[in-house]
Amino acid sequence: MYALAGIALAVVLRRLQLRLQLSRAKHRSLTGHSRMARRFASLVPFYEYDESRFFQTDGAPENIAAARRAGFMQLSQLFAERFKKTAELTGEIAGGVSDLQFTSRYRVPFQFSGYVRQHFKPGTFLESSSGVNVTDLDGNRLYDLTGSYGVNVFGYDFYKECIERGAERVRGLGPVLGAYHPVTAYNVRRLLQIAGLDEVSFHMSGTEAVMQAVRLARYHTGRSHLVRFCGAYHGWWGDVQPGVGNPLAARETYTLKDMHRDSLRVLRNRRDIACVLVNPLQALHPNISAPGDSTLIDSGRSAHFDRAAYAAWLRELRAECSARGIVLIFDEVFVGFRLAPGGAQEYFGVRADMVTYGKTVAGGLPVGVLCGRAEFMRRFRDDRPADICFARGTFNAHPYVMGAMYEFLTRIETEAVRALYQGLDAAWNSRAKALNDRLTAAELPVRVANLSSIWTIYYSAPSRYNWMFQYYLRAAGLALSWVGTGRLIFSLNYTEGDFAEVADRILSAAEDMQRDGWWWSQPQLTNKSIRRRVFKEMLQARWASTSPMGSISSPRIK
Ligand SMILES: Cc1ncc(COP(=O)(O)O)c(C=O)c1O
Repeated sequence: MYALAGIALAVVLRRLQLRLQLSRAKHRSLTGHSRMARRFASLVPFYEYDESRFFQTDGAPENIAAARRAGFMQLSQLFAERFKKTAELTGEIAGGVSDLQFTSRYRVPFQFSGYVRQHFKPGTFLESSSGVNVTDLDGNRLYDLTGSYGVNVFGYDFYKECIERGAERVRGLGPVLGAYHPVTAYNVRRLLQIAGLDEVSFHMSGTEAVMQAVRLARYHTGRSHLVRFCGAYHGWWGDVQPGVGNPLAARETYTLKDMHRDSLRVLRNRRDIACVLVNPLQALHPNISAPGDSTLIDSGRSAHFDRAAYAAWLRELRAECSARGIVLIFDEVFVGFRLAPGGAQEYFGVRADMVTYGKTVAGGLPVGVLCGRAEFMRRFRDDRPADICFARGTFNAHPYVMGAMYEFLTRIETEAVRALYQGLDAAWNSRAKALNDRLTAAELPVRVANLSSIWTIYYSAPSRYNWMFQYYLRAAGLALSWVGTGRLIFSLNYTEGDFAEVADRILSAAEDMQRDGWWWSQPQLTNKSIRRRVFKEMLQARWASTSPMGSISSPRIK
């Protein structure tokens, strides 16, 4: 009897200990607490600033508000003239395209969004691309810093060639699915060499490749949970997106602190972990979600890349996963082929059990690729023929995708492309440093941080208006993606001359924004005080919308 009670107590204590370890391994931010983040998001009330408040949310005096208003109206006029046709066509379809409605609403913090949308219609159409430029319907030639979500590593002309030559190669077979075009044989061999792994499967998107990796890891380990690190993006499938954005809780996902020993302890002690997903892009901002301007309510955004520290972390993870039979998955959908010819595995000197690729690897066509060790890739069991791991996809290994991939994989072997990788980090680090030096010398509160050719802008003085910078950059002829200054992606064909031009434009855009008073500040204004104030506004708005005295459905804060 006593023995049984003793065993039960030991079990309860062990469970408690594991639970405590798990809690310790969560990052203290909301991003680290998916459930709480979803709950918090559901409580945030809508409110927005009216015109007078819009320019003075930080308590700026009248003359500064007037300068801001004048700058804002001037910029708005410039947009209306310069991007006229592009904006008109966008306006014609926006009501019927949910993606456009979403991105236009979330370009800036929601309190400012309505007023900004009234005055800025940047437009979403482009006519052509060439070199490092894109041209819109009004004939504006912009420097492309969107990088097409990371697809564009070698320049758009490179991908046009891959697609055109690839199409010529497979034209005879055309759109026949199921059987493979012969170019696929080369793709398989090359991918496995690059990944240093045994088997490959083809998918239509990075999201699907990640889904398949996790499903296989669960199948082979017989365990339920995946581990992802706080802030890391792995596509939009539910299990890898447990926080805001997914209406359901992801019950078989642990979100742990990146680069922290507490997380290693969880891996060491829990028995339900099938795999660990790593997105090496997080090395630029561990534990923080991909930065977008819609969350830029203050200047708290930070980023800093330490290659040696991240490599050391990956080595520790590797050792822990090997010791516990946990499948280590590098999700290289974003960084693969960008950091080094052998991707993040080569760049950080650590090998994974499975690697996902996507974005760039099909020469500009849609794709997801999973490479893995044979023991984890197998979808059946010799001794239990009915126990299979299912995976399909109508368009997997589509001949045109395989054709463009063939062109991509052969071209990256050429001298010209190999040369692009020479001194890559040194080149981009020195470009970032030179730009930061100029920004510092000009006393502008803008800085950049980079992981090779992937950059983010952050702000060195507290402000509520940093998100305005994306409009000044656009006016200076720089094309950003909808996350604004959070992510700038350069293609490796940027010459020194191209980069110098972009740097000049970033500087002059920042000078214009400074001149228009947006970065006015006073000693009492800190990031903390800004956050506190916004929180207070939210409470006020929430109270106003629930109070029987004043039911305001879309309150405007004055
Ligand atoms: C690291 C990573 N994994 C997965 C994905 C999802 O890829 P896709 O958008 O092709 O589904 C992305 C997309 O940005 C990514 O960056």
